[in-house]
Order: sequence, then C-alpha cells, then structure tokens
Amino acid sequence: MNRGSKPAVLVTGGAGYIGAHTAKALHEQGYFPVVYDDLSSGFREAVRWGEFVHGDIRDGRALAETVEAHRIKAVIHFAGLIEVGRSVVRPDLFWDVNVGGTISLLAAIRDRGVDRLVFSSSAAVYGQGGRGPLETIPEAAPKAPASPYGDTKLACEWMIAAECRAYGLSAVALRYFNAAGADPSGAIGEAHEPETHLIPLAIAAALGRGPALSVFGTDYDTPDGTCLRDYIHVNDLAAAHVAALKADLAAGCFETANVGAGQGRSVLEVVAAVARAVGRPVPHAIGARRAGDPPSLVADPSYARELLGWAAERSELDQIVADALRWEAQPAYSTGARAAGRTVQAAPR
Ligand code: UFG
Repeated sequence: MNRGSKPAVLVTGGAGYIGAHTAKALHEQGYFPVVYDDLSSGFREAVRWGEFVHGDIRDGRALAETVEAHRIKAVIHFAGLIEVGRSVVRPDLFWDVNVGGTISLLAAIRDRGVDRLVFSSSAAVYGQGGRGPLETIPEAAPKAPASPYGDTKLACEWMIAAECRAYGLSAVALRYFNAAGADPSGAIGEAHEPETHLIPLAIAAALGRGPALSVFGTDYDTPDGTCLRDYIHVNDLAAAHVAALKADLAAGCFETANVGAGQGRSVLEVVAAVARAVGRPVPHAIGARRAGDPPSLVADPSYARELLGWAAERSELDQIVADALRWEAQPAYSTGARAAGRTVQAAPR
C-alpha cells in the first residue's frame, strides 16, 4: 500500500480484535499503520490497512528493523496475551510475552526517533480494591489486580512511565473496560480461540450455534446479583487510540486514562439485550462464580474526556449488541475457519 506522506504508526498486535479496528481508524485519520503481529491469535485477513510485518513481540532486532525501515514516529502497543483465566495457570507465559515483549519494544524504539507510545492497558489493573459495587473507578483508584494478567499490565505501565521520565518518550496507557461490538462494515470483528467473552457466547447460544450460556454467579452484591461491567464499543476504543496519538503531551510525560462508557451493565441485562437483538431468548443456566471476576468494573471516563477530548459515541448496549450480532452472524474470518484451512483472503484496498 502506498504510504505517501502519511505518518507511519507501528501497531503491535494489529491483527487482533482491538488492533485491527484501530488500524482502520488510523487509516481513516490519515496515518499509515504498520501492523507487527505473530498471528498467534490475530488474523492475516484482519490486516487490511497499511503494511503487515510478521514477527514476535519479544524479537527486539526485528522490531528495531521495522521501526527503522518504516521511519516509525509513534507506536500503539497491543501485542500480548489477554486471557485472564489462562494467566492464573501460566503466569510465566504472561510475564514473558507481556512484560518481556514490552521490554523488547521499549529497547527497540529507544533512540530511534519514536516520541509517542500508546499502551493497551486494562481495567484489570484495578481489581475490586475495596470499592463498592456501584462506585465508578477513577484512574487514581487503588490498583489491586486479581490476576497475573492484571499484574503484567500494571508492571508494563510502571516500566513505560519510568522510560518516559528517563528518556523523554511521551506515553498514554489506555485502561480498557469491556471491549465489545464490531465495525459496522462487517470486514473485521471479534474472533478469539477459545471465546470466553460474554456477548459472543450469548449470541452463539441465541443463534443455536453454541451451548447454553452459563451465567457466572447470581449472588454478587449488585442490583440483580450478577457482575457489572462497562461495555465499550471497539470503534470507540479505536478512536481513543487515535486521540491518544494526537494528545498534546510534553516530552517525558506519562498518562493513564480509563476507556469506558461509564455505565455498568449486568450479565442479565446483556442477556436481555442479546435476546432483543436476535429476536429469540438466550438459552442460559445459572452457574458458579468464575474465579478472578470482580463484582463490578465501571469506569469514571471523565479524565479521558479532559485529556483526549474523547467520549464514547457508539457504546449504547443495544448498538454494541447489534454490531456484534451482524459480525457473529457472518464473520469474515474465524478461528473455526482457520482450523479447517478455510480462511478467506481479504480483498486488497
Ligand atoms: N460471563 C458469564 N458467562 C460467560 C462469560 C462471561 O456470566 O460465559 C460474565 C463474567 O463473569 C463477567 C461478564 O460476563 O461478569 C463479562 O465477562 P467477559 O469474559 O466478557 O469479560 P471480563 O470482564 O472477564 O474481561 C474483560 C477482558 C479482560 C479485561 C477485563 C477488564 O476479557 O481482558 O474485561 O474489565 F481485563
């Protein structure tokens, strides 16, 4: 793809769910995304904007070469492992890929002309932290990760902050709440293996393509007894990354910002929204609590508005579910198709 005079942005993990939506947003905003991904969980078909480089995030030499070859000025760092449950049984892997990968990325961009980093952090850095179930979370809330996944995200934030102070990089760590939905074009969407997220599982159950949904606990101290989460449309998340690239930050500055809609939705509210969208009930059963689930995680997103001039625009629950349903009904790629060797080649743009 022709780069022209567009500024090149390295997007590590750009073949994944949030990364691909962000690459599209970058393209639409006049940037040239250079996606760096090992395709361990991402999809080649999801890389439709800019350039693709196949590589491991721990490979410092390949990263440095990519930064130099594409004259990269800014980096958005998504690459990493995300399954909270797996992090409990394989913390070693999470520290290696998430923390080790960030160490190699920081070394690769140091002294190579990169002056802005946007880091994919998570609401998982907060845990429940003594908060009441209806309290929203500001950035300064206590950090009490409930999983090694959250630990690694927090450790990366600390490393990046120190790097900023020491070397003059400016960075924003975006703490995502629950990413959901899909681009309305149908070209990209959510595809995880295994899928553990509520909305795709509820849709699969309603469409009769998956087992009945298990609702993980109805005895939480929340209004209907199920966990509260702050669902944020993936396109709103993508827009926050572009805003973080553009934010007016001094050299050496490190910022954190919550990226959520600021509205808590219970598991049963999501089940009801999926039933409305599909026009059929969601077969479900009440199950036990899932280890590591905080009762509620709802953002106070006011600082993101102040720092980034950003606010959620597509994150009404019914809109998120409608977009997710469009994708799930006809995904352009999927782990099932990949396993069967049936992946489709994306049309060049
Ligand atoms: N849930 C069910 N049944 C399921 C799946 C999920 O009841 O089959 C419930 C969970 O218990 C939770 C809610 O639905 O209360 C949302 O669960 P998800 O698995 O969709 O998302 P999580 O809140 O566990 O985690 C997500 C990301 C993490 C991130 C976290 C931060 O997957 O990477 O949000 O809020 F750290």
